[in-house]
Amino acid sequence: MTTTARTRFAGRTALVTGAGSGIGRAVALAFAAEGAQVVVAGRRPEPLAETVRLMEEQGAKALAVSTDVSRAADAAALVRAAVDRFGSLDVAVNNAGVFRGGQPLADLPEDDWHAQLAVNVTGVHLGLQAQIRQMRTQPAGGAIVNVSSNFGLHTTSAGAAAYAATKAAVTTLSRGAALDHIGDGVRINVVSPGATATSMSLRPGETEEDRADRAQAGLPLGRISTTGEIAAAVLYLASDDAASIVGTDLVVDSGGSL
Ligand SMILES: NC(=O)c1ccc[n+]([C@@H]2O[C@H](COP(=O)([O-])OP(=O)(O)OC[C@H]3O[C@@H](n4cnc5c(N)ncnc54)[C@H](OP(=O)(O)O)[C@@H]3O)[C@@H](O)[C@H]2O)c1
Repeated sequence: MTTTARTRFAGRTALVTGAGSGIGRAVALAFAAEGAQVVVAGRRPEPLAETVRLMEEQGAKALAVSTDVSRAADAAALVRAAVDRFGSLDVAVNNAGVFRGGQPLADLPEDDWHAQLAVNVTGVHLGLQAQIRQMRTQPAGGAIVNVSSNFGLHTTSAGAAAYAATKAAVTTLSRGAALDHIGDGVRINVVSPGATATSMSLRPGETEEDRADRAQAGLPLGRISTTGEIAAAVLYLASDDAASIVGTDLVVDSGGSL
């Protein structure tokens, strides 16, 4: 069987936050493989440089911008950098996120509450604002996909109350913004992953084999998602294949929570 390379994003500029690792890196590589020029953001420059190297190896154009998504000035500078370098911002994926938890809510340190709000909620809010302000000036508008979690609106688990609250907020914020801005040509949706093969889904001291055993026992599918499977859902919602999908929240979670 022969497969034809897909080029849904040829000539388009895609921005991905949290792209130095995990799901964000897989999303960036998937956009590059489908013809996009990709701007990757995160706080640490070294992992971003590695994502850029991997994209350039595929023949893609790429740019890394060190960014703290919880700072409004950084969110605006990131969009400016994308437009200065590539001329437009067609797609944005607000994927950067942090998990702090494991203990009952009453024992969660106050800093961990604020850190999760700052990155997971304020980061998505500021990203949306900066991205929409650019996209609504463009004749072709744009598409935004925010990465939430199945913890939140869909399910939750002991030790994750604060994280789940921030992720419920991501979905709610996105749905409202989708209605506010579809008339501006900006289409906004959400992907809510369940347990996915990154360090975030490992419990303290757990190996990947331990996690696989836990998934086999605890998930209807018997395994967690790959980062490529989450990227496929993100690219679908960002693509013209999803042109009439507005404000949806696509759960990709192997049928349950771990
Ligand atoms: N893995 C899972 O099982 C799972 C399940 C559901 C949802 N999710 C969600 O999926 C997204 C990606 O997570 P992941 O699993 O790929 O974890 P990850 O590998 O830890 O990736 C998170 C990324 O976010 C970046 N980041 C953190 N704080 C930031 C900030 N203030 N500004 C800019 N970038 C920041 C990190 O880079 P720097 O540290 O360099 O900034 C990192 O590259 C998150 O939103 C997470 O909540 C993951």
